[in-house]
Amino acid sequence: MNPARTQKSAGFAAVARRDARLLLAAALDAGPELPIAHPERVLNGSERARIERLIARRAAREPVSRILGRRGFWSLDFKITPDTLDPRPDSETLIEAVLGRIDEPAAPLHILDLGTGCGCLLLALLSELPAARGLGVDISEAALGVARENADSLGLGARARFERRDWAAGLSGPWQVIISNPPYIREWEIEELAPEVAHHDPEMALNAGLDGLDAYRALLPRAGRLLDRGGILALEMGKGQQDAVEALLVATGLTPLGRVRDLGGIERCLVATLGNPWDSAKK
Ligand SMILES: C[S@@+](CC[C@H](N)C(=O)[O-])C[C@H]1O[C@@H](n2cnc3c(N)ncnc32)[C@H](O)[C@@H]1O
Repeated sequence: MNPARTQKSAGFAAVARRDARLLLAAALDAGPELPIAHPERVLNGSERARIERLIARRAAREPVSRILGRRGFWSLDFKITPDTLDPRPDSETLIEAVLGRIDEPAAPLHILDLGTGCGCLLLALLSELPAARGLGVDISEAALGVARENADSLGLGARARFERRDWAAGLSGPWQVIISNPPYIREWEIEELAPEVAHHDPEMALNAGLDGLDAYRALLPRAGRLLDRGGILALEMGKGQQDAVEALLVATGLTPLGRVRDLGGIERCLVATLGNPWDSAKK
């Protein structure tokens, strides 16, 4: 017996069971607890047909979040569509990194989110910082529409604006917090990703040119000039990109404060400030 393999298959089985429960609940228009609370429930013909259609989609490698059109992120519920990236749990590393460096959560901070997608990063921060206001920008008008809907449904619409822009073009500052999870996949690697990603996340949210760094090169020079002195910039990056992204940060005049690992132990987030690191909220 190979214990690692057994553990991996047990993991797959658990995920498959959770997927099945969520799809069953969706087919029955019920909460996810229904299949556990009422295992005796017998499906009628139209319910069977509905669940079979959903299972066929999942078997064709469509993620459950895409089938349901919803994704939980930072304990908040987000609408997602084919125009938005499906937010990843790893991106919560950015939220933790920013919150961990804010001394006064009640301060009226201004937060800029570059490449906002469904708005998950900005809205998660606003949900924790009651006096903060934020701007989410994206090149995709369709994604911005989803972000606005999410802001309203989470009760954060009065503190969040969304604008179509090419990264930070035309914006002025200063911003106390700038966050971004830009595209960072090498163009030629996209087809090698799992079908759940390659065929369902928008290419615009993934593709970052030949070396995976195009978006950082495009956004950093201007974003660096918009950061307040002592402000916090938090960037998500792909596995193994930390040195290259940090070099780009330094070239724009920012001072790196640290790298934060995700739950898988991968250096996922770079935090930087403008000026002397001792100016920044927390070391
Ligand atoms: C990796 S996704 C991140 C989405 C969201 N922030 C998240 O973490 O789930 C990158 C986002 O950047 C946007 N984007 C790509 N090129 C852009 C550009 N030139 N200017 C602004 N946004 C851009 C994409 O449309 C996409 O929504």
